[in-house]
Amino acid sequence: MLDSPIRFDPEGPTLRLLDQRKLPEEERWIECPDAASAAEAIRDMAVRGAPAIGIAAAYGVALALARPTAGGAGDAGEIRERFEGAARLLLAARPTAVNLAAAIERQRGRLSETLAAGNPADLAERAGLAERAARALLAEADAIAAEDAAANRRIGELGRSLLPAAPAPTRFLTHCNTGSLATGGYGTALGIVRSAAESGRRVEVFACETRPRLQGARLTAWELLAAGIPVTLITDGTVGALLAREKVDAVVVGADRIAANGDTANKIGTYQAAVLAREHGVPFWVAAPFSTVDLATADGAGIPIEERSPSEVTELSGTRVAPPGAAAWNPAFDVTPARLISAIVTERGIARPPYRESLAALSG
Ligand code: MRU
Repeated sequence: MLDSPIRFDPEGPTLRLLDQRKLPEEERWIECPDAASAAEAIRDMAVRGAPAIGIAAAYGVALALARPTAGGAGDAGEIRERFEGAARLLLAARPTAVNLAAAIERQRGRLSETLAAGNPADLAERAGLAERAARALLAEADAIAAEDAAANRRIGELGRSLLPAAPAPTRFLTHCNTGSLATGGYGTALGIVRSAAESGRRVEVFACETRPRLQGARLTAWELLAAGIPVTLITDGTVGALLAREKVDAVVVGADRIAANGDTANKIGTYQAAVLAREHGVPFWVAAPFSTVDLATADGAGIPIEERSPSEVTELSGTRVAPPGAAAWNPAFDVTPARLISAIVTERGIARPPYRESLAALSG
């Protein structure tokens, strides 16, 4: 089974990404030799999912220093400029997932430490500065990826504790894709599903197809089948009918950004699933690493929501389905108000309402 959709090849040096636009038909890896191509892969969703975007961006800024430039090795000022140029490109790629900005900020801190450790007056040291900075940033990117994979395992274990004791199969509804493909490995919401299955429970998943990019139909179904977990696809509009007719134990989703009060931005369609879960008395859980919590944003109104091309709505796999002249609005995410969320499962613990207090306590 896939462990991670992101690999770094130090020989290139090159960032290798499993191209998620091609799945499930084709398992093709693309190569990003520099920060610009990493930013493009994020923008065009060859890599997607908040934690995976953060990891790809962390390698992206490292690449900016790892490749020799025509201008030579560079002093601290030049190295910082290269870093900031790459950071700008990557930050502009997708605005909602806070993991991207958090990863760049962490790399900026690591760069500052590395540059401060050198002696600018020592010419020999100065010559090796860019190389040392690149090594430090690559090590930090590796650490971000490894920490995310470990966080997912813990989220899986903690989330399992929320499940009802049931001899019958545990039935989940999920939206978008939150598995290995979207993270450093294992998954967040899908991590809970996988952890439940691995503990010996019988597990069934209903997955929303997730219009317009079909992450549920293409990616979640692919990952669950690979893990031997039965999956039933529904259109996004079927959520109400499903919850009204079938017993579903929990709706479990991921997050792109969780504000300080618990309001949660996630894939468009999540909000309506939360409203319907409340209507039908089904618990609604958000699963995310703590790196997705943005305590600097007070509530959902402050979360930037990416709007993507109308063509994602007016076309299906490149074929126009809407009449020419029909406008389309295509926000990639919506915000689920904290009051609809029963629990937020992070690797640091499970937050319960009121989230302003519980998330602050977990931030420690
Ligand atoms: O547009 P995408 O595919 O990047 O959106 C992904 C989601 O909304 C996921 O639910 C979220 O990033 C969490 S992934 C663990």
